[in-house]
Amino acid sequence: MQPQSDSQAATRFRQYNLTEIPQVYAWFERMRTNQPAIYDEQMHMWQVFRYEDVSAVVTDHSRFSSKPLGLVGSFFQDTLVAKDPPEHRKLRNLVNQAFTPRAVARLSDRITRVTQELLDEVRATGKMDIVSDMAFPLPAKVIAELLGVPSEDWNIFQKWARIGDTESLMGSERSMQEEMSDYFSQLLAERRRSPREDLISALSIAEVDGERLSEQELVSFCTLLLAAGQETTKNLIANFIVCVTDHPELLERLRQEPDLMPTAIEEVLRYLPPVWLLFRMTTTDVELGGQHIPANQFVLAWLASANRDPAQFANPDQFDIQRASNRHMTFGHGIHFCVGAPLARLEAKIVLPMMLEQLKGLQRVEGVPVMADMGIVFVIRSLPVTFQAEG
Ligand code: HEM
Repeated sequence: MQPQSDSQAATRFRQYNLTEIPQVYAWFERMRTNQPAIYDEQMHMWQVFRYEDVSAVVTDHSRFSSKPLGLVGSFFQDTLVAKDPPEHRKLRNLVNQAFTPRAVARLSDRITRVTQELLDEVRATGKMDIVSDMAFPLPAKVIAELLGVPSEDWNIFQKWARIGDTESLMGSERSMQEEMSDYFSQLLAERRRSPREDLISALSIAEVDGERLSEQELVSFCTLLLAAGQETTKNLIANFIVCVTDHPELLERLRQEPDLMPTAIEEVLRYLPPVWLLFRMTTTDVELGGQHIPANQFVLAWLASANRDPAQFANPDQFDIQRASNRHMTFGHGIHFCVGAPLARLEAKIVLPMMLEQLKGLQRVEGVPVMADMGIVFVIRSLPVTFQAEG
């Protein structure tokens, strides 16, 4: 793979064979060293690559606004992810009231149950597609449960699964978005009439300073949760399996020492993150990576590059499941830090040990190229594996 130009991000947004990914990381390394902040003529935006700069762009909301994420028609429109303070604070406080550690912990049993059901469907066959048989349905069913979507409806998410794609996020999927809005408006009306113990009911009555979320804000938040929580967690599971099947000796080690799982999950989040980049817009003139960037410019911050910056991580290209200090950028940082991080981590900590335990001899099917779409979310389409059939 030879990029058209070393500075053009646009050329990166395509489908990749996973074997090409080291070349993308080599490009990040060149950019961090030679051109840490650069203007991309094709995308009309700046790009930054170093940990320090990515962290500043993502965290410093007074100089880098999140408003561009709310472009008209985008799935992020009207949601907290596209707001700056003070609007962001109000929405985030409301969301925190409903998205409590208790509400997340309550999902543990459900996650275990769904994982076991999905494993039972494949255990006797000795083969499965990690994506369609586990990584997709598990987070979809969990978000459905969290929101309070009736279980018979969870598979409507299948149709909406593409909402994590960059195209969709940037607004080219109007009809699907309208369909989702209609669905959630109806569900919301039902829960207002007869509340249950679910997130939609909790959000519809949550108050800050006597203010509640408007209907539009609520509906947008539900679609955001789907967009933000489904494809990302799906790819955390798939990326984990990619990383450990690339290093088969680790599979056995993790089976023997399940206590290593939490740091192994953090290492996958750093090494092959589900979210590769975030956008912001400058509110004022700024200096970044030795460049002067004027106000009102789009900035693309490469989280995946920051995660491999040797200024922050020792031996950054080494996959180390015991990495001690792992302050990766994969969940963002600062006021927009991922609301769903505890849930994504909980899901991973339940599903992955169960998979390793029950799928002995797990390995990728040789000769089948693993293809992934590079967007905001890094999406693995299919990941066929084999293991020892049981029963
Ligand atoms: C491995 C899985 C996940 C990854 C890598 C991830 C990544 C991120 C990142 C990078 C941000 C920051 C956005 C920014 O600064 O502009 C974010 C925010 C957010 N995430 Fe996640 N996410 C994951 C799972 C989830 C889940 C499971 C949910 C909910 C069910 C969720 C809901 C949200 C929400 C609502 C925000 C907006 C927070 C705010 O703007 O204050 N995420 N996520």
